[in-house]
Amino acid sequence: MSTQIIGVIGQGTMGAGIAQVAAQNNCKVIAFDTNEAILQTATNNLKNTLIKLAEKGKISAEQQRAIFNNITYTTDIQQLAPCNLIIEAIVENVDIKKKVFAQLESIVDANCILASNTSSLSITSIAAACTNSQRVIGIHFFNPAPLMALVEIVPAIQTSTEILNQAKNTIDSWGKKTVIAKDTPGFIVNRIARPFYSEAIKMYEEGTANKETIDEAMKTIGGFKMGPFELMDMIGHDVNYVVTETVWTSFFYDPRFKPSFSQKRLLEAGWLGKKTNRGFYNYAEGSAREAINTNENLQQTICNRIVVMLINEAADALFLNIANAQDLETAMTKGVNYPKGLLAWANEIGIANCVGALDNLYNTYHDDRYRCCALLRNMNAENTVFSV
Ligand code: NAI
Repeated sequence: MSTQIIGVIGQGTMGAGIAQVAAQNNCKVIAFDTNEAILQTATNNLKNTLIKLAEKGKISAEQQRAIFNNITYTTDIQQLAPCNLIIEAIVENVDIKKKVFAQLESIVDANCILASNTSSLSITSIAAACTNSQRVIGIHFFNPAPLMALVEIVPAIQTSTEILNQAKNTIDSWGKKTVIAKDTPGFIVNRIARPFYSEAIKMYEEGTANKETIDEAMKTIGGFKMGPFELMDMIGHDVNYVVTETVWTSFFYDPRFKPSFSQKRLLEAGWLGKKTNRGFYNYAEGSAREAINTNENLQQTICNRIVVMLINEAADALFLNIANAQDLETAMTKGVNYPKGLLAWANEIGIANCVGALDNLYNTYHDDRYRCCALLRNMNAENTVFSV
């Protein structure tokens, strides 16, 4: 099925980006927000974005006009009636989302797919607000939606296979890389990526190294584009801390996902990162950074510890059928630009070495955070590797 008319609810950061992606793929878009001023901002931003794309020669003048004209902005939810697919990107509040989804059912026809772009809420709980809950699904874009290739497709336990296929085909046809994730906290990326931040903070808190050294190790030895502290400052602690805390509480307080006080304090202080000029780092002009410890062994130890913790999460996600191996690799390389897939990385390091490193950490801390995934342990016993 080729979806022609796409509704986007909410024209903030994500909704505006999703509307642009759909419009660039020749869909008619009805963009709805309750806030008139937000719609005006979204229109102006889109106009400016398209002018820039045309100036750079990425789109023709004709495409520029066509894309702009593909989107209709409205504050009237009834205008969504003709949509084939509606993607909701409003405030992250399950009760408000449920109300909107229930209302949509009285507006659209029976074949319209209802999707949520939520990062952290259960799709199943949103679907429960609908009479026809089979048509509800998660379609999770990454920020900025027009630039990030990855989209996680998240069927609720009620979602029909037909709707899953239709939703996936539509997003694939927009040139995105889709992966299918089980409806569990953090889906794929926001679950597996946690130790990149939390293990870095733990080493920093324990004085293993300063943040400058940890960032440097992950870039030069790990091959990551940004170090964890730089990245958290860029994402903003209001977003990154809240995701961490939400994932932790949603996992019934599993110590693997426990947040840190260092980051919580930054949030409390309003030191949200780059956008407030201060986070882990101070971005005010003239503020100095601490010296990087160039000891290669130290940097290697730091990098190994974070990578092995990431591998443990990826292996656990595979073990628990959160996604298949290929989708897990795609998610981490396309969603957060990791230098390689974590399962391939595990093969490279050696499964026995991964298990050994995790067991060493467990023996040191006696903390469940470092428990080695049963899959890795079994693979080690059977001397097998991941098929990726
Ligand atoms: P935002 O705050 O930038 O935009 C939300 C928009 O929804 C606002 O324009 C607001 O006026 C509108 N809105 C609120 N209630 C509404 C209602 N009942 N009906 C219609 N419009 C309403 O939020 P953002 O960051 O775009 O996030 C939206 C959703 O996308 C959330 O569920 C979030 O978890 C998810 N998400 C956010 C990402 C991010 O990096 N910001 C990444 C991926 C997903």
